[in-house]
Amino acid sequence: MIDFKVNQETCTKCGQCSSDCPARIITMGGGYPAITRENEENCYQCQHCLSICPTASISILGYDPIHSLSLKGILPDSSQMELLIKGRRAVRQYKPENLEPDVIKKLLEVACYAPTGRNTRQVRFTVVDNRATLIEMREEMMAKLVKISLETGFPPGMEFFSDYVRQWEGEGADFLFRDAPHFLIASAPKSAVTPVEDCLIAMTTFELYAQTLGIGTVWDGLAKFVICDMLPEFKNRLGIPEDHVIGYAMAFGKPAVNYSRTAQHEPAGVHFVN
Ligand SMILES: Cc1cc2nc3c(=O)[nH]c(=O)nc-3n(C[C@H](O)[C@H](O)[C@H](O)COP(=O)(O)O)c2cc1C
Repeated sequence: MIDFKVNQETCTKCGQCSSDCPARIITMGGGYPAITRENEENCYQCQHCLSICPTASISILGYDPIHSLSLKGILPDSSQMELLIKGRRAVRQYKPENLEPDVIKKLLEVACYAPTGRNTRQVRFTVVDNRATLIEMREEMMAKLVKISLETGFPPGMEFFSDYVRQWEGEGADFLFRDAPHFLIASAPKSAVTPVEDCLIAMTTFELYAQTLGIGTVWDGLAKFVICDMLPEFKNRLGIPEDHVIGYAMAFGKPAVNYSRTAQHEPAGVHFVN
């Protein structure tokens, strides 16, 4: 039951919900928008109908439009967005303190608005929300990586880990989590339409929003390689479901560094097709 309801007192029968429905299941045959019982299962559950209605006359899936954020004139402007995108950096120095639990909750709540293939929304966030837990995990991982380095060596293509392990042993340099207090993994069921893409988009969204709250992030390929390719027992330890694919990993927390200006990139390679 998708619980599609139309307030007939306020609906103007403009038909925008019908023409914007990606599944094309909203009909205007009887004057007011309607979805037949047989078509309910074809609903993407995207809520375009609820969002587009100018008079807030449509509710669906139990969501009342009154609880949606208004989109009238309060979006960040393009120069603010440009600064956010160009100013984002990989943060590799962090304050040794946990973020407030409510801040982490807010980050995840916003990140889950990222689009997903066919609106399947099956991205699952695995979060280490406590610095002490991450330190414990890091010590354990590092001990195992030191052992691999001494006994068998790293798998082909991952030999560069030897240098990192040496830095860890010599200076205690944390290449795995960059001394961040928190760690995030996005995973999704292998059976989802676009599991890895969904995870990457969710994490990109997480990262950009995090900046607006003064929170730094770093994409964590090294930790991902370790979990996926060298120490797969941590997938289980972190509680990532067996049938999930890990999209990516990210460390985050309060930065112990401030950047004063953006980097300067050469234009991307672009090919315009005539
Ligand atoms: C997919 C991906 C994986 C990355 N993995 C790591 C990592 O394991 N450790 C790290 O310190 N930085 C990692 N980075 C950060 C990149 O090195 C960084 O984004 C790049 O040097 C550009 O710097 P900027 O993000 O500050 O602009 C990764 C970035 C991406 C996009």
